[in-house]
Amino acid sequence: MLYLRNLVYHPTACPTAILKSINLNLAPQQLGLIIGPSGSGKSTLLEILSGLAEPTSGSVFWREQELIAEQLQQLAGLVFQFPERHFCGGTILEELRLGHPELGSERVKHALSEVGLEHLSLDTSPHALSGGQQRRLAFAVQLIRQPHLLLLDEPTAGLDWSMRRQLVNLLAKLKKDWTLLVVTHDAGDLLAIADCCWMINHGELRSVDPKALETKVKEPQAAA
Ligand SMILES: Nc1ncnc2c1ncn2[C@@H]1O[C@H](COP(=O)(O)OP(=O)(O)OP(=O)(O)O)[C@@H](O)[C@H]1O
Ligand SMILES: [Mg+2]
Repeated sequence: MLYLRNLVYHPTACPTAILKSINLNLAPQQLGLIIGPSGSGKSTLLEILSGLAEPTSGSVFWREQELIAEQLQQLAGLVFQFPERHFCGGTILEELRLGHPELGSERVKHALSEVGLEHLSLDTSPHALSGGQQRRLAFAVQLIRQPHLLLLDEPTAGLDWSMRRQLVNLLAKLKKDWTLLVVTHDAGDLLAIADCCWMINHGELRSVDPKALETKVKEPQAAA
């Protein structure tokens, strides 16, 4: 279980806090969805949860234990927005093993099968993959480390309708084994697979019912 308690991020150069007393609980094997407009603090929150930035105050707990940034780096795997732009391996195998040359072929195979890419040759260049496959590979790059918490920044951004659909199905499958926290400005079909949901605005987080939001999204289409 992930608990955030009164998390504040207020760099001294900023007139107001970027994250304002964030409280959040996320149970294992659930998908939490945070929806907010551009600049609301979504990526900043994921940077803190992945140990890339330190909060100004407040706490992050995993189960009973309060974690510091170094522990969060172990616990969490962050997939950035447009992760394929950061690929630097010449092959799928190289990409998966970057920073972990010790990982054996079983771990490599398992990570690829988690994301439905087990049929691809390990010698394939990541740049030769389709957009949806590249996004899946970026997930596998994190999953191979076996983090407890998978953090996804705009996972469906830039994908066409059909790839987006496939990716949503993949997330629904992944949450059976992992705890997922997804941030997006465009919830759309992610609402249907969210177990809990929050809106973030100017760094303030409030809990909302995903089912209520889903109805709102569907209503205009039903009327059309
Ligand atoms: N270290 C920092 N110092 C100053 N300002 C920052 C810092 N990090 C983020 N910001 C500002 O904090 C706000 C939140 O940024 P963030 O990138 O988290 O938003 P976001 O919700 O992810 O937006 P988008 O949907 O466009 O990706 C922005 O106004 C940004 O300019
Ligand atoms: Mg962002």
